[in-house]
Amino acid sequence: MQNYIDASQAPLKNTGTIKLYDEAGFEGMRRACRLTAECLDAVATLVKPGIATSEIDDFIFKFGATRGAFPATLNYRGYTKSSCISINHVVCHGIPNDKPLRDGDIVNIDVTFVLDGWHGDSSRMYTVGNVKRAAERLIEVTWEALMLGVAEVRPGNTTGDIGAAIQEFAEGERCSVVRDFCGHGVGLLFHDAPNILHYGRRGEGIRLKPGMIFTIEPMINLGRPGVKVLADGWTAVTRDRSLSAQYEHTVGVTETGCEIFTLSPSGYTIPPYA
Ligand code: MF3
Ligand code: CO
Ligand code: CO
Repeated sequence: MQNYIDASQAPLKNTGTIKLYDEAGFEGMRRACRLTAECLDAVATLVKPGIATSEIDDFIFKFGATRGAFPATLNYRGYTKSSCISINHVVCHGIPNDKPLRDGDIVNIDVTFVLDGWHGDSSRMYTVGNVKRAAERLIEVTWEALMLGVAEVRPGNTTGDIGAAIQEFAEGERCSVVRDFCGHGVGLLFHDAPNILHYGRRGEGIRLKPGMIFTIEPMINLGRPGVKVLADGWTAVTRDRSLSAQYEHTVGVTETGCEIFTLSPSGYTIPPYA
């Protein structure tokens, strides 16, 4: 049996109880998530051959700082960067460094800004110069998988409906779903209950209720689903070194469906971004 609690009455920690946010919470999340989405729009012009991912990370820190926001990842469990930037076979949690991006790379940039205590968590894919058709297709499949998951978000559906929609589509496209990382409740906390699996069966998991806020962030591989974490303790890569892509939105459950808090103000979905 799953418990739910009015978020304004809840302790500020992950106790496994699902927080239900009110209109003030939704408004706080709109602002934090819009800032994150604006930043992901802005970095599109930076992603070019030759730029180091640490330069993009510095831009992200400054983008937030000039707007009153702090990156949730900075000093989070020993992580020391303002974003995660994951290239090619890196599945997630790539650590920005001084290596230049190269023509043909596909890149996920994941940003979580904290604004007035509210966490806006989103990631998108970017392409560097000309990328192979297989890589483009993986990006398209991953974006569509996310949006099919989002389309399942409404009161009465379950978290399993989200995972099933993502898995059925991705595997139907001869891609695989990473099992080792999941979406999560988000709001006044960065990572909260419930876990949102990107695979599963319809009707399983937790029933969705108005006021829930969580991320959906499928990682989809061209090859096998297995991942391993490198010696740095963060960087997750595909075991078979196949390409991996990820998209992430923060969404809130409404009476009739959901609100996507992290939509691009510029209308960006998949690259190329104008
Ligand atoms: N932003 C990631 C997510 O979508 C979490 C990154 S945690 C970090 O949940 F420490 F690796 F930055
Ligand atoms: Co997330
Ligand atoms: Co994220």
